[in-house]
Amino acid sequence: MMTDETTVQFLRNRGFDAFAGSYDRYARIQQTAGLRLCELMEGYVDDINGYPIVELGAGTGIVSDHLKRLFPASDLIVSDISPAMLEILNHKYATSDSMHVQYIDANRADASMSISKAIVCAFTIQWLDNPASSITDWLNTIPVGSYCFVTWPGEKSFPEWKHMAEVSCVPYTGNKLPGATLVDAVLEDENVSLVYHTAEDIQLEFDSSIDFFKSIRDIGAGLELHDPIANRNLLRLIRMWDMHDREAVTVTHRIHTLVLKKL
Ligand SMILES: C[S@@+](CC[C@H](N)C(=O)[O-])C[C@H]1O[C@@H](n2cnc3c(N)ncnc32)[C@H](O)[C@@H]1O
Repeated sequence: MMTDETTVQFLRNRGFDAFAGSYDRYARIQQTAGLRLCELMEGYVDDINGYPIVELGAGTGIVSDHLKRLFPASDLIVSDISPAMLEILNHKYATSDSMHVQYIDANRADASMSISKAIVCAFTIQWLDNPASSITDWLNTIPVGSYCFVTWPGEKSFPEWKHMAEVSCVPYTGNKLPGATLVDAVLEDENVSLVYHTAEDIQLEFDSSIDFFKSIRDIGAGLELHDPIANRNLLRLIRMWDMHDREAVTVTHRIHTLVLKKL
């Protein structure tokens, strides 16, 4: 059993680099959302296979593996900014001629996008400085007729966490997540058309609230725990939530899936 102080220490740590090794074990929602995105992409195989594809924020390659299988005739640039993630990708695709691992900061367009038929970005735009302007930048760079496939956890995620924070009289300290207004912002560009957009609720069950918070930490997303008050608040929230849901904790993720086409 962890003490209060070790619980806080444990949940505080953050950084995709530090947690690259444990990412796959805890990335349950990313596995589900990535699979859904790639099932959707099956409908685009005839249009895209054989042309270059750029994946941004590829992490450990959960989506890259699907892309490799779906588009065997395409050259795939799988990119990230985390050195530890890039090392995993390099190791994983060392023997593949079609997979090219590269550092790309998704905040802005990269030259490689100018010849790509598709940009793919799963569970990464929420880490960008200005997601709408980054997506607009990518769309401005890809050729006419190319696509952009994006999935992300939306602002309506974690209603149970928000509710329990309110009940426990502590502030909600989850990261700010983009909502559907992101789509409206991107569509202001007249050279962009909306092909597909859904926002679907996916629920995951955890043995306890601390297991949920650990799952956030163990994919590297971490929690904002900068001061003693924040630490005490989190411990209070964990206790209240586990008293409220004694058997298991259910957490809802609002998953957006978006397909855009450059006109
Ligand atoms: C939650 S993980 C998603 C990984 C993978 N796409 C998946 O679905 O499992 C977010 C990834 O985005 C990367 N990332 C964060 N900021 C980034 C940026 N500005 N440019 C590119 N990648 C970034 C992180 O290093 C991490 O690998």
